[in-house]
Amino acid sequence: AENTLADIVSHAKEYGFVFPSSEIYDGLAAVYDYGPNGVELKNNLKQLWWKAMTQLNQNVVGIDAAIFMHPLTWKASGHIDGFSDPMIDNLDSKKRYRADVLIEEAVVQLEKRKVELENARENGAIPVKGMPWDNQGEIHDIEGKIKYAIDSLTIGTPFDLQNAMRELEIGEPGTGSTRWTDVRQFNLMFSTQVGAVAGDSSQIYLRPETAQGIFVNFLNVQKSARQKVPFGIAQIGKAFRNEIVARQFIFRMREFEQMEMQFFVRPGTEGEWYKTWKETRRRWHEALGLPAAKLRFHDHDKLAHYAKAAVDIEYEFPFGFKEMEGIHSRGDFDLTQHQTLSRKKQNYFDNDVNPETGKPYGNYVPYVVETSVGADRLFLATLCQAFQEETIVEGEGEEQKTKTRKLLRLHPAVAPVKAAIFPLVKKDGLPEKAHEIYNSLRHDFRLVVEEKDSIGTRYTRQDLIGTPFCIAVDHQTLEDETVTVRHRDSREQTRMPIAELRAYIGEAVSF
Ligand code: GAP
Repeated sequence: AENTLADIVSHAKEYGFVFPSSEIYDGLAAVYDYGPNGVELKNNLKQLWWKAMTQLNQNVVGIDAAIFMHPLTWKASGHIDGFSDPMIDNLDSKKRYRADVLIEEAVVQLEKRKVELENARENGAIPVKGMPWDNQGEIHDIEGKIKYAIDSLTIGTPFDLQNAMRELEIGEPGTGSTRWTDVRQFNLMFSTQVGAVAGDSSQIYLRPETAQGIFVNFLNVQKSARQKVPFGIAQIGKAFRNEIVARQFIFRMREFEQMEMQFFVRPGTEGEWYKTWKETRRRWHEALGLPAAKLRFHDHDKLAHYAKAAVDIEYEFPFGFKEMEGIHSRGDFDLTQHQTLSRKKQNYFDNDVNPETGKPYGNYVPYVVETSVGADRLFLATLCQAFQEETIVEGEGEEQKTKTRKLLRLHPAVAPVKAAIFPLVKKDGLPEKAHEIYNSLRHDFRLVVEEKDSIGTRYTRQDLIGTPFCIAVDHQTLEDETVTVRHRDSREQTRMPIAELRAYIGEAVSF
């Protein structure tokens, strides 16, 4: 059986991956905390991304910019004027809803109804074509509404959405009435005051994307790291958006983490780089264990204000295919905007020779291809993919039994614990031997020693947090310095010398 999101949420909580924020106060909507296993998994994902960007590419370097930025940054980037979602208020419950989400949901219902009506015609439930009870008219009516709704979503001004809601008779959510309220544009940036004096000039924002910290540092980095175009700047950090609809667990949060890389290229070459990064990023997700069948590209028809081309890498979450990473061809939008508002040139001098003119390419504002993945969405996809149930057949003949086992089939490179060490019994020097092995390997891997409960229970617990290896220490260990290594996925056991553990585990957890 496929996991539901509820299964993932409860597993994440029970095994220390993700907790609701401030849970003792009943939580804070769309904000979450990572627990002891969650923080390890998330750190591993972030480190692998960082390595894939900055260690595997000589021409990609990292930065760590501040969350607070000069407010003009957000004027330049378009966030002050354009970073908003269409919103309606439910006056009764004081809840806010995204108008476009409500319209999308209504379209799904209409499409279902249309299929029902078409099936009814085909099955002869609507017998006579052209008669008063023929349902062709109703089907046309529904098609009209769907088209109207989709057009409005694409155009997307509050006025269009408002009309679409009226047309679709979408009432205030939860009230059952067909009254509707005004659709407003709601800016998603959080603002706060800097210093003691209130007023417009001291208003600043929590960054809604990490990308702008990279753009404003473009020349600092290019010069100090002696980079030549094409080159990239990578960053991992928190971003904040006052999302109107809080749901789907850590998929849509108000405080989240982004892993972004801006790749600066010579104008005219952005198409090639866009293709290259699109493929590179998809392959990375597959290598980490997300199967090709659960990943797909989704090209945007409706582009954000900054983009010339944009594609999402979508993963099939329990609630459907949804965006996990965006690849955007941003042209010179950001750098020229910053050039205008800061009055500081953002030019790069390219002394490579253009074969067509025989002269250097010279001065230009580079174009940018961006890869932007949410650390939390990657975490959620990883967890959804890894959480599996399987049937196990044990014993033979009359004795044969089947049972089910749940486990987290995480790639060993991202698993929170790489190996658990179990003394078979709590006596005869076995716990001491287990700790000796722990001490000899703890500088290389995150390990745990577990002494309590039956060995079967201990295996189960480690399966559920995705530990790839369990190392059993028994009486034979004291005689010949060997241990039994049990593999999470196959449940196979291998006897091996303690001296070989480091190389063996090291090989498995490398990426
Ligand atoms: N700099 C480009 C940019 O920010 P985006 O598509 O708005 O583009 C990029 O965001 C990625 O950030 C998304 O693909 C998603 O993984 C993540 N993300 C965006 N909003 C999020 C939210 N509210 N909660 C969690 N992750 C989010």
